[in-house]
Amino acid sequence: MRLHFGVLSCYLLSLQRTVASSNGRLATRDAPFDQVREIPDRSHQDADEDEPEKYFHESTFSQHYDGRFADKQLNYDERRSSLTALMQTYVSTMNDIGAETWIMHGSLLGWYWSRKTLPWDLDIDVMVSEQSIHHLANYYNMTVHTFSLTSNTEDGENRSSSYMLEINPHYTNSTLDSVNRIDARWIDTSTGLFIDITTLRRNSTAQALGNPDAMMVKDTHHYNYDDIFPLRHSTFEGYPVQIPYAYAELLMEEYGAKALSDVYFQNHRFDLGMGEWVALSCEDFGSCENFRNPIDGVNLPASSGERDED
Ligand SMILES: *[C@@H]1O[C@H](CO)[C@@H](O)[C@H](O)[C@H]1NC(C)=O
Ligand SMILES: *[C@@H]1O[C@H](CO)[C@@H](O)[C@H](O)[C@H]1NC(C)=O
Ligand SMILES: *[C@@H]1O[C@H](CO)[C@@H](O)[C@H](O)[C@H]1NC(C)=O
Ligand SMILES: *[C@@H]1O[C@H](CO)[C@@H](O)[C@H](O)[C@H]1NC(C)=O
Repeated sequence: MRLHFGVLSCYLLSLQRTVASSNGRLATRDAPFDQVREIPDRSHQDADEDEPEKYFHESTFSQHYDGRFADKQLNYDERRSSLTALMQTYVSTMNDIGAETWIMHGSLLGWYWSRKTLPWDLDIDVMVSEQSIHHLANYYNMTVHTFSLTSNTEDGENRSSSYMLEINPHYTNSTLDSVNRIDARWIDTSTGLFIDITTLRRNSTAQALGNPDAMMVKDTHHYNYDDIFPLRHSTFEGYPVQIPYAYAELLMEEYGAKALSDVYFQNHRFDLGMGEWVALSCEDFGSCENFRNPIDGVNLPASSGERDED
């Protein structure tokens, strides 16, 4: 019985990907939204009246979900398996398309520890180069990428999962556009979870002042060219990814040295033997009586033994 591992973990992600747009071919134009929405009665977008210029709207119930595709938050296990599939489908698609992308922020920290998304993380952060965002905007806006998932178990049904790539029309605006900091999203059309995609840009002001290496991102992060390039090749969630060159310095600067050494965090413990973050179990607290791990509203069984077998 592995039900509490969530739906997708019973499936092997197949690399068979189909791309669709409104005309059923590789899109060079936009697909009408009604045609890509799987469950049309879900409409939980927070179209914030105070920010009419904002392009992407999060859901009314959480900033980590797209309200057009979701009406509720997933539980801990469902979210983890959905984020894993989100990352795997994103990187395999970007590899196919030939877009230059790399992981950053919390995802890079997860990579550092275990080559996986941190189990308590609510999202995935990636960056693309300027050339790549142009390419994605010109040829792949609103494309839907469907992956077939082959069941791991004999009696399990095969199913498919669709992801939509949406490019913010404000991506061409290189100023610190505070309501449009996210240049694109890779959205799971069944759960509403998404990957935020930001563009690494040249800082033309700094370059004019004689600093040719200065780079910027609309979310106000600053980098030097050689913090990021040349990208290093690695793996994340079992797939080939690229990571920024000076990853350790970037992580230290963003999260502090403790984030690279503390093995207890957010009700999880880093298990050196497994090389993975595991949710604290009652043994960690010394008593199993009335034990409840408060992670994300999900109470784990008192013994985490079943979990460790997988
Ligand atoms: C699922 O797909 C696999 C591989 O294509 C196939 O062998 C299997 O019979 C399929 N299972 C079902 C229930 O259709
Ligand atoms: C992508 O398509 C959507 C939906 O048609 C549109 O609103 C948006 O402006 C497009 N983005 C770009 C970069 O053209
Ligand atoms: C770029 O974004 C800024 C900040 O939102 C806005 O003031 C400016 O008008 C935008 N420029 C263009 C060309 O849209
Ligand atoms: C670009 O560089 C200038 C000069 O170093 C700096 O003042 C400015 O904040 C940078 N702009 C962005 C958007 O990062």
